Amino acid sequence: MSDTKRPLRRSQAWFGRHDRDGFIYRSWLKNRGIPHDQFDGRPVIGICNTYSELTPCNSHFRTLAEQVKIGVWEAGGFPLEFPVMSLGETLLRPTAMLFRNLASMDVEESIRGNPLDGVVLLMGCDKTTPALMMGAASVDLPAIGVSGGPMLSGKFRGGELGSGTGVWQMSEEVRAGRMAQEDFFEAESCMHRSHGHCMTMGTASTMASMVESLGMSLPGNAAIPAVDGRRNVLARASGRRIVEMVKEDLVMSKILTRAAFENAIRVNAAIGGSTNAVIHLLAIAGRIGIDLSLDDWDEIGHKLPCLLDLQPSGKHLMEDFYYAGGLPAVIRELESVIDRQTLTVNGRTLWDNCKDAPNWNREVIHSFGEPFKPEAGIAVLRGNLCPDGAVIKPSAATPALLKHRGRAVVFENSDHMHERLDDESLDVDETCVLVLKNCGPKGYPGMAEAGNMPLPPKLLRKGITDMVRVSDARMSGTAYGTVVLHVTPEAAAGGPLALVQDGDMVELDVEARRLHLDVSDEELARRRAAWTPPAPPMERGWTRLYFDHVQQANLGADLDFLVGCSGAGIPKDNH
Ligand code: FES
Ligand code: MG
Repeated sequence: MSDTKRPLRRSQAWFGRHDRDGFIYRSWLKNRGIPHDQFDGRPVIGICNTYSELTPCNSHFRTLAEQVKIGVWEAGGFPLEFPVMSLGETLLRPTAMLFRNLASMDVEESIRGNPLDGVVLLMGCDKTTPALMMGAASVDLPAIGVSGGPMLSGKFRGGELGSGTGVWQMSEEVRAGRMAQEDFFEAESCMHRSHGHCMTMGTASTMASMVESLGMSLPGNAAIPAVDGRRNVLARASGRRIVEMVKEDLVMSKILTRAAFENAIRVNAAIGGSTNAVIHLLAIAGRIGIDLSLDDWDEIGHKLPCLLDLQPSGKHLMEDFYYAGGLPAVIRELESVIDRQTLTVNGRTLWDNCKDAPNWNREVIHSFGEPFKPEAGIAVLRGNLCPDGAVIKPSAATPALLKHRGRAVVFENSDHMHERLDDESLDVDETCVLVLKNCGPKGYPGMAEAGNMPLPPKLLRKGITDMVRVSDARMSGTAYGTVVLHVTPEAAAGGPLALVQDGDMVELDVEARRLHLDVSDEELARRRAAWTPPAPPMERGWTRLYFDHVQQANLGADLDFLVGCSGAGIPKDNH
């Protein structure tokens, strides 16, 4: 059956056969009326769908997949949609991050084990994007990302209400006694009122921007609202394009070069992107075999300005970003720093895609010369409290707190924090440093978004809105504050964070990239001798496998045995 004039496609190892196994591979697919000529060697395109009603941000993905399919048919390909594990940030406990690597395994094995020549990755909610990128990178077929797009702007009583960011703000207002419970309930349906993912520059919008700046999507992918007809056009165009990419053998590793990651780091600074991108990009780079380190984030990104006035660093929302020109307009502003050679899925360079992009609103997308915030990239801290690093997002912090020395108020874990924080007798004032332990990859487990600890109510009533906070946790991309995150090694892995006690003095100096625990080495050694490592949170199952193999945040929190790429080799026949 295989057409000798064409190069042999991967899918032809299934469909191009005249034997017993060829019968099996084709016949069962014919049960829904696939005609025999579909198996003639045309590119077979997998549509990897993270649709789930348990992932509200991806609840429109059936329609999106249909659009991709139309595009694949139009270009002469054969689309086959398949589901993979979907991770919803808001419902899944203890944290969706516990399952990112599990979902990536599902993606990897589903692609490699099936008769696919290329894949379209449908991703939206925070963890779905890195999970699909990681899994697909470990196979390295031609792949194109299609994000679900952000929700329409939240609107509440005449004002804007941003996903996540508004929750953190309003819940503190309720705790301070300044907002009524009924108003808080009403805001729930005002914040999220259409399909799509969080419409602040949280992790989902950040990761969609990372996919676009890495070159893994068509231009415009990051910002088109989920319910805008142009999102469907993009999905359809991506379906057409993946068929061509298969013919060109434009595999992921040709796009995901070191220079592409460097460009993504620059873009993350320029958009005021989520700290979670640090972990996810390190993990994706690990899969495709690119040597990227935590320090690269600081070296490449820290001097760069934030151009985008979007929540949580600023005031606008993703809809405004799209109408102002979207990510291409930001990338155009980065003319003096961007690497112009990086390739994208459309076969052109990132720079060629963006160099003429219009900017329709300078209040949303500022120029490089007159940025929204200067030197806004992620800062990587070191010191005796975080020998392998910690991160802070200066653009979302209070400038006056970026250099601070304060007395530690320590919480052993998140339960202890919730218990203690609302206790009016807690000995704390606004100069203290809140320290949270055991929320890292092994400790929580899964490295929860617990790093932006709420403030004690008595300080909220005083009008305090920020304090220095230090933990081995992550923070929601929609959150803000002077929050030191990803302290590595984490407490549960025996990092110095485990040894901090109430009353110790902690020094933060972001300018000097320093996080220091002012306790003598002898005293720390004494405390270490008394420390015992925690038992695994579960004896069996995924959580046990994760606990035994997860790497620390500075390495991307991937499982040790998942790092790398096994390629797209064709497995043995199944009979
Ligand atoms: Fe899904 Fe924010 S909860 S993107
Ligand atoms: Mg999140």
